[in-house]
Order: sequence, then C-alpha cells, then structure tokens
Amino acid sequence: MPREIITVQIGQCGNQVGTEFWKQLCIEHGIRMDGTFHAENVPSTAVSDRKDVFFYQADDDRYVPRVLLLDLEPRVINSIQNSAQRSLYNYENFFVAPHGGGAGNNWANGYTQAEAVQEELIEMIDREADGSDSLEGFVLCHSIAGGTGSGMGSYLLEALSDRYGKKLLQNFSVFPNQNESSDVVVQPYNSILTLKRLANYADCVVVLDNSALNRIAVDHLNITSPTFSHTNCLVSKVMAASTTTLRYPGYMNNDLVGLIAALIPVPRCNFLMAGLTPLAEDAGIRTSATKTSALDMMRKLLQSKNVMCSTYSGARAQEGKFVSILNIIRGNIEPVQIHKSLQRIRERKLANFVDWAPANYQVAVVKFSPYIPKSTSLHGLLLANHTSVRHWFSRSLEQYEKLIRRRAFLDQYERFDMFSNSSEFSDCQEAVETLVAEYESCETGSTDT
Ligand code: GTP
Repeated sequence: MPREIITVQIGQCGNQVGTEFWKQLCIEHGIRMDGTFHAENVPSTAVSDRKDVFFYQADDDRYVPRVLLLDLEPRVINSIQNSAQRSLYNYENFFVAPHGGGAGNNWANGYTQAEAVQEELIEMIDREADGSDSLEGFVLCHSIAGGTGSGMGSYLLEALSDRYGKKLLQNFSVFPNQNESSDVVVQPYNSILTLKRLANYADCVVVLDNSALNRIAVDHLNITSPTFSHTNCLVSKVMAASTTTLRYPGYMNNDLVGLIAALIPVPRCNFLMAGLTPLAEDAGIRTSATKTSALDMMRKLLQSKNVMCSTYSGARAQEGKFVSILNIIRGNIEPVQIHKSLQRIRERKLANFVDWAPANYQVAVVKFSPYIPKSTSLHGLLLANHTSVRHWFSRSLEQYEKLIRRRAFLDQYERFDMFSNSSEFSDCQEAVETLVAEYESCETGSTDT
C-alpha cells in the first residue's frame, strides 16, 4: 500500500521551488505537464515506481500532484496558472488570500492572515488527506525570511501538528542570505519566529541556504549572476532526490519514518544539510569524462563545495561533527562497492562523527528512472545532520539581538494582537538559543542522549 505524502507550498519561494519540484517529479515518472502518462519505449518490466506516493489518478486517468499551493498574493500562483503546468494541478488546491496584498515581509502578518482563513485552509488539507488511503505525512516548502512562507508556514506547522499529530512533518526551508545587505531588513525577526516552530513541530527540516545555493551556481554552474530559476533547479533536484527511495522503493528507507528516524536520533536536532553531485550536468558543462565510482561519489558528497549550507565550510566544517549521514545514490552499484567505500571513508577519517554514538552512515541505492533514457552516470544526494548548522542559528540570533536592542521595526509586529502583551519574541529567542546549545553539546560530546 502506498504511503502518500501531501506537499504544501507556501508563499513566493515555496511555490517557485515547488513548481520546479513537480517538473522534476513528472520527468522521473513519465508524466507530461498536463498529467497524462507517456510510456513510449519503456518496457513494462522496467517500471517499478510508486507514482501514487506523490500523485493520484483523476477520473480521466491523468496524474494529479497531491499538493496545495498557498499564497497571500496572487502573482506567483497566477503565473503557475498561466504556465504549461496549469492543467497539472487540481484547481481546487490553489489558495490566494482574498485581499491579495501579501504579508509585506512580516511574519506576524502572515501568521495572523493564516489564522483568519484557517477554516478554509484546514478544509483544503482535510479534503486532500481524505483522498489518500494511508497518509504518511506532509512536506512543507517555504522560505523563512519573508512574511507568508514564514508566518503562514509557522501557523500551518502548528495546525498540522495539532490536527495530524501522528503524521510526519518534513520541511524544505529556504534560509536567507545572512549578509548585512540582505533584501528583507526584518529577516532576523521572521527567521527567529519561524525557527522556534521548525524546532518544535517539524520532524525534519532540510536547510536550503540561499548563500550556498548562489555560491554553487557561480562556482560550479558558471553563472555570473544566478537567478532564482537557477537556484530552484538545484533545490528541486535535492527535493526529488531525497524522495527517490519512497518513489522507487528498494530494500531500505522505503518510508519517510525510516528515513527520518535514522537521521535524527536527537529529537530537537532536526535540521539536515543537503549535498548533490554531479552539480553541473544541466548547465551544459561537461562533467568528468572518467568513470565515477561509488567511493568518488561518496567523497564528493562530503566536500563542502557540494553542500547547500553556508556554515559547512572551512574550520567550522572541520570542527563540527556528523550526527548522521544518509547517501542516496542513483545508479547501478553492487552492495560490495558500497561496503568497501564505507570502509575506505572510515580508514581515511573523511567523516568526523560525534563521540557519543556509533558512526551513523547509511547508503541507499536506487535504480535509474526508466523514463529518463540518457541516465547512465551515478547521481548522489547527501542528507546529513552536522553540528556546524548551529553557526547559522547563532548568526541569526546576533542579527536579531541587534534589531531588538534598538526596538527596530517592532511597531510593525506590535500591530498584531498576538504581540501586544506577549513574550513571543523572547520565547523564540530562547528556543533558538536552546537549539544552538543542543547542537553544541552534540559536538562536544556532553549530550545526555
Ligand atoms: P511575502 O512576500 O511577505 O508575502 O512573503 P513570502 O513568503 O511570499 O516571501 P518570499 O518567499 O519571497 O521570501 C523572501 C525570501 O525568500 C528572501 O530571502 C528571498 O531571497 C527568498 N526567495 C524568494 N523567492 C525565492 C525562490 O524562488 N528561490 C529561492 N531559493 N529563494 C527565494
């Protein structure tokens, strides 16, 4: 029986990233942009995918993504509805706020607006959930810096956790560039307010750090000024690759529970980094002409240049420790090659693990999609729980403290009732400080777990 997953895309970033994700999933399952299936030249014996995890079949047999597309302003949703993907989605699954003014980069605005339309949102979620036989959980896709993805995303995390407590909640969260010149001045407030919910309610958060994504696009894809469409291509590949074991089941990691349980042994250290190789293929750049072995692939996945989190670099990456690693490799590899590669990585001390638990390094091998005839070389994804992620939270706290000390822009948040008499800001600050401390104790070995 399939274990279905419902995706919830929230705000500009969530919907733009989601659009690329569905493009990728359609390609990997032989589905056209209008939902029709094409299996020309694919022998039925080669097909062993589970489309029903992410799609259902409509009365006319078209495949329809199990996704809700939510925004507080119409621009991105309109562009999806006017694109080649327009007939892919269930039209009832679009939500745009009636006044359509967005959340103005304000978490409290996004949260309050979501609360005001909660009945409509919950009804949409319940309807989609009722359409599955054995719902495994929800994937939320959003940015934590603006107002809708962060505020509405936080509200939905709380609501889903309350209503669907036994289902898994996995977030793909785009983290903003932390330069002083960032595009959203109140991004430290929005980030801290969202991080508390990510730590408390999500089972697993895959961090997609915009600075690292930009660096990869410049250094590896040779793009001088990357746009969101370049970085979203990378993000969609990470999202698709991280779900391959669910869509192309093998002998392990066939459900989200198994995948997450192995990666998150400490419940509150639930933030994962992602790495991808090869990166350059789609930019028309020739990748190495040599044959890539399983060991090459696993080595590359550990290199900071391939990892989409800016804090996994230099001394921080060296000093930090892995709590767990999962490699998902797509291609034809014998188990013995994996075994030998793991042994070599251990001998060469290429991955530095925490001292208080056995090295938790798993490798899943998944077959190529039969719908992509040109696939030959290996493709790898890293999902890793690495303690250097705490530096991202610390930097966010520093930026937050600078703003709050001056009470800068607070009036924009106090407008919302929930903040007038509440200690929401200090609660969130404390939650993120705890998160930093927990990752620190994982690193130094002083954890009680
Ligand atoms: P409001 O605009 O306030 O209604 O909220 P929103 O959640 O729709 O805002 P948005 O998603 O634009 O969040 C802003 C943050 O997301 C900034 O850090 C942007 O750099 C980043 N961002 C926006 N769109 C994209 C995208 O398509 N891809 C990536 N990687 N980042 C994006």
